[in-house]
Amino acid sequence: MSGHTQQAPIGILDSGVGGLSVWRQIRALLPDEHLLYAADTAHIPYGNKPAGLVRQRVHALAEALVGEGAKALVVACNTATAAAVESLRERFAIPVVGMEPGIKPAILGSRNGVVGILATEAMVRSQRMAHLVQRYGPGKQVIIQPCPGLVEQVEQHALHSSETTRLLQNYLAPIIEQQADTLVLGCTHYPFLLEPIRHLTGPALQIIDTGPAVARRLHDLLAEQGLLNRAGQGGQARFFSTGEPSSQAALFSRLLGFAVQVEVLPSPNVRAG
Ligand code: DGL
Repeated sequence: MSGHTQQAPIGILDSGVGGLSVWRQIRALLPDEHLLYAADTAHIPYGNKPAGLVRQRVHALAEALVGEGAKALVVACNTATAAAVESLRERFAIPVVGMEPGIKPAILGSRNGVVGILATEAMVRSQRMAHLVQRYGPGKQVIIQPCPGLVEQVEQHALHSSETTRLLQNYLAPIIEQQADTLVLGCTHYPFLLEPIRHLTGPALQIIDTGPAVARRLHDLLAEQGLLNRAGQGGQARFFSTGEPSSQAALFSRLLGFAVQVEVLPSPNVRAG
């Protein structure tokens, strides 16, 4: 593979800021890669939309990232992966890494066989979720909790607001009552709520975020295909949003803990292939 391709950026996408929880893991594991991040803020949340619409939006974001030269795509959103990862792989010849709730590691790691999952409504009703539960759930107790409203709280950086606490109390109640010993964060926005979740569940619950596994998968795929950037010069990062760039820059910066600029994502009107 040519050095030119190796030095091309990786495109990461989500409906909003949730994928930044995956971005952090990718940046930690692959410090020399150039990263492009696209948030579809104008269409958030995906979790209450039909799969066809989500697929169309994800293809539009992917086209824009590939248009910026991406050598690989990371769908840093469980809901978008469920709706679009196969069609993205058909459309683009570059590696596409998706993500799904960590039900397998949760079941394998659970001592009492009771596992809770927090996810968006669309993810809960997706075929992907049904397959995961069919495959790993038999003989176990899997409590699947849709969480409308949580994504919006993260998008407002209302991580510790009374509304966020109220929503989390409601959504965690059945999981705590049934004494789950493991909790899966089935949406990339939820790692930003780790502290308030911990506050409600106590320290003993094992909490699974698949962000680190996605970063490792991306590394392995790039290595296999000779696509790792070995320039050793430290990767650059660019952030894009379909929302208003200055308010998004403030939000991104707060969540990441350092100041970033956000550019307007040219949003081509592309239909899912
Ligand atoms: N961050 C996305 C996920 O992982 C969902 C957010 C949304 O509903 O827009 O599922």
